[in-house]
Amino acid sequence: LREHEEFTKVKNIATIELGRYEIETWYFSPFPPEYNDCLRLYFCEFCLTFMKRKEQLQRHMRKCDLKHPPGDEIYRSGTLSMFEIDGKKNKVYGQNLCYLAKLFLDHKTLYYDVDLFLFYVLCECDDRGCHMVGYFSKEKHSEESYNLACILTLPPYQRKGYGKFLIAFSYELSKKEGKVGTPERPLSDLGLLSYRGYWTRVLLDILKKHKGNISIKELSDMTAIKAEDILTTLQGLELIQYRKGQHVICADPKVLDRHLKAAGRGGLDVDVSKLIWTPYK
Ligand code: ACO
Ligand code: ZN
Repeated sequence: LREHEEFTKVKNIATIELGRYEIETWYFSPFPPEYNDCLRLYFCEFCLTFMKRKEQLQRHMRKCDLKHPPGDEIYRSGTLSMFEIDGKKNKVYGQNLCYLAKLFLDHKTLYYDVDLFLFYVLCECDDRGCHMVGYFSKEKHSEESYNLACILTLPPYQRKGYGKFLIAFSYELSKKEGKVGTPERPLSDLGLLSYRGYWTRVLLDILKKHKGNISIKELSDMTAIKAEDILTTLQGLELIQYRKGQHVICADPKVLDRHLKAAGRGGLDVDVSKLIWTPYK
């Protein structure tokens, strides 16, 4: 019941200010009751503290000494940096991030238990600091082999390839762990589109190189994509036949080329040599 109430609640905060952006919100987010009467919230773009009034934010910015998210910088390439934040060590930051993210995530229940999660915050950096572009969260231990819980690209940065970058990054972490991974369900429409696009491009590239002579298990080992996700992706592309009780990949080069053309832009690539990270223990 509580969950249902949360889903049907009307949107309270209509806009937020974050860094140099004013952003219209999409969904309800359960901010503490004392924020119920405001239409607009002001966020410190670095520590994600939120305030009711612009003057409060201005005062905060004079004394806040963060110029990037807390936690460890685990990736840097050009102006792009990724920070890993442990929800247990930075509880308030983790909670603020969840409140912010829920404004753009419909179907997710908010996790107050940020202790159990790691947050990966992607930033574009310049001389004023590291500006958050988007993030994903990941359970420290997942029984269901989830390698991503929630993903968000802030609206001013959407449709520029950051979402695909975040997804690719989540699989690079899984490869380093020596595990396969899959995103937590349900996926939103935009989430599904982005994942389908990522899976399609990664799998088609490999199939083209191997001229189709490869099994789903081998594909999964190479990409850290869960076998079920590989199967549904390839079925969607009509590259699977069922022969003698087995799923077989049928990759006609002409069909592959046609799909690759349709798969669109590759997006921003993760340069694995710039990732300095060891799995959570
Ligand atoms: N319309 C149509 N297709 C879209 C759109 C859109 N508005 N947005 C993304 N796509 C598809 C496209 O195929 C796109 O590839 P293309 O641009 O090459 O055609 C692909 O998704 C990925 O685009 P990116 O630019 O890499 O992704 P973006 O940075 O926009 O982030 C994301 C995608 C994270 C899903 C973003 O839309 C978002 O934050 N949405 C709100 C929150 C959300 O729904 N998150 C997923 C919930 S599910 C979960 O968390 C497990
Ligand atoms: Zn701050």
